[in-house]
Amino acid sequence: MKLIGNASVQVGETAVETANLVAARISQQMTDQPASVLGLATGGTPVAVYQQLVRLHRQNGLSFSRVHTFNLDEYVGLAADHPQSYRMFMREQLFDSVDVDPERTFVPDGVASDLAAAAADHENAIRDQGGIDLQLLGIGQNGHIAFNEPGSALDSRTRVVDLTSSTIQANARFFADAAEVPTRAITMGIGTILESKSIVVMATGAAKAEIVRRALVGEETRDCPASYLRRHDGVTWYLDREAASQL
Ligand code: PGA
Repeated sequence: MKLIGNASVQVGETAVETANLVAARISQQMTDQPASVLGLATGGTPVAVYQQLVRLHRQNGLSFSRVHTFNLDEYVGLAADHPQSYRMFMREQLFDSVDVDPERTFVPDGVASDLAAAAADHENAIRDQGGIDLQLLGIGQNGHIAFNEPGSALDSRTRVVDLTSSTIQANARFFADAAEVPTRAITMGIGTILESKSIVVMATGAAKAEIVRRALVGEETRDCPASYLRRHDGVTWYLDREAASQL
């Protein structure tokens, strides 16, 4: 573990080793505080983390029975049972394989008739649970955290946002066609994320090396929302060798 600014940085040899370190961190949080409030992320990067958490549940009895979970974001227009919705991703990767109470899992409602109210509901539900204890985050190649795209404000809250074409392009791999990727999402804001008690950011692969460098040691700017994570003193970055190669 080394320090860059006030961020702790832990580098694993491989993506799998890095994911196992993140899973160990989350599992430690749940052991220390079984009723933890966990902030969860979707995307390619955390898949191996969830696989390891499912293993820890099955083999070591790691229990999710008392946790509440809050996901960062959801696509606008995709219902909970849509195969590419983030609710479905979470069911497939984690929720259906562990003993979490579905009633305690919160993903923004992307098909609510009043999307602004759905965003406010997510904020309020987080507050009702006393805030997020540990937030898991990925980082987009454009520096986004959750769907807070470049230009997002430091004090932004959970809201409806437009996705950039680079994000739509990056996420097209999960859909049959780029034209099927929703163009809007509900996302926790940067202000919301920064209220988490601790934050774990995970990035793997050479394609993330430059943005990881910009986020950690480049200019703090709206153009790289992840650079705002420096404002928080409880952030740990978990990187593989490739993602750490420009530090
Ligand atoms: P990825 O997405 O894990 O699919 O690379 C990360 C992100 O966009 O936050």
